[in-house]
Amino acid sequence: MDLMLYKLCLSRGVENPVQSRPIPSISTLLSQRTSGHALPAGLYTRDDVFEADMDIFFRNHWICIGVECDVPEPGDAMGVNIGSSSVILLRDDDGDIRVFHNVCRHRGSRLIGPGTTVVSKLVCPYHQWTYELNGELAYAPHMGLDLDKTCRGLKPVTSKSIGGLIYVCLSNNPPKDISKLEDVMEARLEPYDIRNAKVAYQTDVIENGNWKLTMENNRECYHCSGSHPELCVSFVDLDFGYDPESLSVEDRAAAVQHEALYSSQTARWEAAGYQSSPVEQLVDCATNFRTQRLIIAGRGESQTLDATAASTRLLGRMTRTDLGDTHLWGHNSWNHFMGDHAVVATVVPLSAHKTLVRTKWLVHKDAVEGADYDLEKLTSVWIATTDQDAELIARSHAGVQDNAYEPGPYSRFAEQYLDKFAGWYIDRMRAHGY
Ligand code: FES
Ligand code: FE
Repeated sequence: MDLMLYKLCLSRGVENPVQSRPIPSISTLLSQRTSGHALPAGLYTRDDVFEADMDIFFRNHWICIGVECDVPEPGDAMGVNIGSSSVILLRDDDGDIRVFHNVCRHRGSRLIGPGTTVVSKLVCPYHQWTYELNGELAYAPHMGLDLDKTCRGLKPVTSKSIGGLIYVCLSNNPPKDISKLEDVMEARLEPYDIRNAKVAYQTDVIENGNWKLTMENNRECYHCSGSHPELCVSFVDLDFGYDPESLSVEDRAAAVQHEALYSSQTARWEAAGYQSSPVEQLVDCATNFRTQRLIIAGRGESQTLDATAASTRLLGRMTRTDLGDTHLWGHNSWNHFMGDHAVVATVVPLSAHKTLVRTKWLVHKDAVEGADYDLEKLTSVWIATTDQDAELIARSHAGVQDNAYEPGPYSRFAEQYLDKFAGWYIDRMRAHGY
């Protein structure tokens, strides 16, 4: 047994590792997964898998870290921690978005902490090296005139704003197939003008579970009717698949009618110039996403407790509240864009057992709280839904850690996107050498 494996055994509470069964390699764990089934426990719980996940999925793939309107004015900056990395999203003096590594070029100090701040220049708190908002090193006291400042600027992070959503890739070899996401979503998000929206509210919820359980949970609505009474007012849980045999005769007839409504409604929206058909890039790809304009249930306007719009001031150049919910998934995010507001959630793993879910509610930049929108009405559905999901994920993670856990079958009707996610996860791990 090599030393690392021995230490891993000890960290997992194995008293006499030498006499215990060998712990399988990550590669072996990947090969133990049965198609159509959840992942083996170790892929959710092991620290070495977590490190591999952070390297592969959060450094070498594109991830969503926020929105342009997190930093609406020149000098606005936001620090975002991603594992052992940290980035600064800021708006420079020309009004352009920039993303830098949050690492001083002197001795590496973080320049800003996580969260938003306002700066005229970026001044390192350690020895006051001072950077312009375009990243150039402007001032480095006591370093002598021979210091070549031109090669000591902040390192830029590869980034893209897609319809106002900020995607970054921390590697020097970012996957090229983000181009499809870009092509599809720039056009679909254009009417919402997310670039110029306003963050009306933000929550950070730390879930007691592995990030893959968080993403799996988000990719099915099998659990919605049992757990999300608030969301189910406006969200049709059967939209992501159902087994007709599990429905009553009446519910089956309603589901068939609802499917027919999708064809006619999608055609109407597209005829009016709003792209709505589903687009997926979920297998055989690096950049994983799905989008579709979904029908909002009930009063049909917005994800609120009565399904009516929360803001009378609509987003961007939207003039209608009957354009449904443009949903978008990535491998670390989910989003809903409606006429009156948008919900943008990003996911950052904190450990094998903890995951940060950051949710932002966006409204028109000139919408005024109390006049144009009521914050409680705006946020109540997704605050409740996120709390309920956190509880489900904690239960799921606890069960996965139990020796009795055995990966069970996904519903081929209602969990087909989880099967695709698990397959994609394994393919990407393999592509990176496991
Ligand atoms: Fe930043 Fe020294 S580490 S100025
Ligand atoms: Fe949920």
